[in-house]
Amino acid sequence: MADTLWWQHGIVYQIYPRSFQDSNGDGIGDLEGIRSRLDYLVGLGVDAIWISPFYPSPMADFGYDISDYRGIDPLFGRLEDFDRLLADAHARGLKVILDFVPNHSSDQHPWFHQSRASRDNPKRDWYIWRDPAPDAGPPNNWLANFGGPAWTWDSSTSQYYYHAFLPEQPDLNWRNPDVREAMFDVLRFWLDRGVDGFRVDVIWHLMKDELFRDNPPNPAWHDGMPSIDRLLQVYSCDRPEIHEVVAQLRAVIDGYPDRVLIGEIYLPLERLVAYYGEGLEGAHLPFNFQLIFAAWNAGEIARIVRDYEAALPQGGWPNWVLSNHDQKRIATRVGAAQARIAAMLLLTLRGTPTLYYGSEIGLEDVPIPPGRVQDPWEKNEPGLGFGRDPARTPMPWDGSENAGFSTATPWLPLNPDCEERNVARLSADPASILNLHRRLIALRRSHPALNRGDYVHAHVEGDLYAYERRSGDERLLIGLNFGHRPQRLTLPGDAPEGRLLLSTALDREDEPVHGAADLRAAEGVIIRLA
Ligand code: GLC
Ligand code: CA
Repeated sequence: MADTLWWQHGIVYQIYPRSFQDSNGDGIGDLEGIRSRLDYLVGLGVDAIWISPFYPSPMADFGYDISDYRGIDPLFGRLEDFDRLLADAHARGLKVILDFVPNHSSDQHPWFHQSRASRDNPKRDWYIWRDPAPDAGPPNNWLANFGGPAWTWDSSTSQYYYHAFLPEQPDLNWRNPDVREAMFDVLRFWLDRGVDGFRVDVIWHLMKDELFRDNPPNPAWHDGMPSIDRLLQVYSCDRPEIHEVVAQLRAVIDGYPDRVLIGEIYLPLERLVAYYGEGLEGAHLPFNFQLIFAAWNAGEIARIVRDYEAALPQGGWPNWVLSNHDQKRIATRVGAAQARIAAMLLLTLRGTPTLYYGSEIGLEDVPIPPGRVQDPWEKNEPGLGFGRDPARTPMPWDGSENAGFSTATPWLPLNPDCEERNVARLSADPASILNLHRRLIALRRSHPALNRGDYVHAHVEGDLYAYERRSGDERLLIGLNFGHRPQRLTLPGDAPEGRLLLSTALDREDEPVHGAADLRAAEGVIIRLA
């Protein structure tokens, strides 16, 4: 079996920097805080951290509105702090992946200041400016994510500018070669400092229709859905020209050894896999979010895995994501019992897993009182459940004040059960979901069948989903019970004997298995077949 690269056999851990660890008592996490928790991550067993944006930003979208691509927001520290974090991470064998946000800058970026200064400013064309429609309204019907129109009128130059997200996040014009060069230079700036790769924000958005045609209405839209979904995003993103840009980003990364390019892409499967590039010259890992939207049952999950495996291009490396800073937490979506099944699924499927901070302790969405709402989406479209604050709350570390996250009141409330659900408490409980993650990760690291082997579908029967991972002579059978009733997992006819390596209940290690294993409600097992 060919050797795999770190981003193939490794595990990525996503850190939302505002919420991981505060080091200076302002209630907001920072780089020095992350640095102080590196040993925790090493103990957990992950291979890489992806850190959501920490660049200078007015924080209209909490760092996804960048006013300087080459700095650190003072809230998070200084460039020296970043260099120290990177060095300390590397010294522990941890890779560091940055969040790169090329689709839009902040409206406070000097580029946009210049661009909006006058129609003949050299940077005018760095953003997307259009004349009004004949009726003086916006140039087309495109809508913004987080609510409202995607065009904002600039009265001083009498044109509209385009923003796929907030008005404070004007889209850069990726058809302009100078924009591309400037952004490639940003990548090199961080690559030269030693970062190991990038997660590219909304990569499928970078190119828009050249003719700016209207998006068609979405016949499936109904009240209660985000207003952006009134239209199908046919012309505003995922245009054919995007793949050339992705290949250029990849070429920049490939100028450095052993780096990774990850793309954030919310698209149906057949369009998602196009982002690997026809000759694999695209993203190494187009994020696969299918588990986030899956109905949580054995048949559906098995179908997703089968279809994804089948859709991958030859040589394209798979990846799996259960949650991130934009989505409801996995433990909230599926409940505490199934969160253990989810962990076993994520860490035994073929392909790179990304683990969102807090998942490993079973953290749930935290209700945010109206007065403490931070997310602009919740503020623009309130009360519909779109707000992302609940999934961004501080990491609870121990039983001390503010759960060890900060000496001050945290920027978002802690989980109400933080006295029991914190890293210290769960570490001490051998059966905790945290220790389940540690065991699963350790097992994945030490078994090539799990971290790089083949995936072989076994069967789906009612609430039971079973599959094998194979490498060389090793065959591991994974059985996951998605239901509330016991299930019998039958071993394959050609390998009827085995030994139980791990159960989600953490209490059946080393049990011999003859012919079949009896799974309890919501239990998952990993069996080494003899
Ligand atoms: C991505 C980010 C999200 C952000 C948006 C705009 O989807 O993950 O948090 O709000 O892009 O940058
Ligand atoms: Ca701080």
